[in-house]
Amino acid sequence: MRILFVCLGNICRSPTAEGVFRRLLMERQLEQRFEVDSAGTHDYHVGKPPDARSIAAARRRGIDLSGLRARAVDARDAERFDLILAMDDENLDELRRRFDATYHHRLALMMSYAPDARTNAVPDPYYGGERGFEEVLDLLEQAAEGLLSDLLSRDANSK
Ligand code: 4NP
Repeated sequence: MRILFVCLGNICRSPTAEGVFRRLLMERQLEQRFEVDSAGTHDYHVGKPPDARSIAAARRRGIDLSGLRARAVDARDAERFDLILAMDDENLDELRRRFDATYHHRLALMMSYAPDARTNAVPDPYYGGERGFEEVLDLLEQAAEGLLSDLLSRDANSK
């Protein structure tokens, strides 16, 4: 199963989502079953590592994002990934515009996997303070748990 996390710049939210989900897979020894990547709807930061504030906040929770490099969403991502998870409604609308309708069933909001969270979007922390980066991690840790449970139960039901 291939999963792509998408935000605007691919330097704050979606690389954090990738790191959080990868760590969860490692903890459960499930890395072999999933391919995980992230991308941005814009190309402003292509080739750059995640924002230093995202790297620092993730590091405080034992997650290393420093090896990641930003890339822009590509038309082929729609075919390549089984599930493409947007961080907010703008990202989701942009993906709907870019991808052919045959692939729209692969698109969802990341926070739809955390129905108890008080928001359906992971707020963009780029122009805010440190607290925003902690909130991104809190929300993504919640959603990543929900996502993995959902994927594992789908898999169990298909057997
Ligand atoms: P991200 O955050 O979408 O979570 O990576 C942003 C990064 C950069 C910009 C906006 C949001 N920017 O405007 O450059």
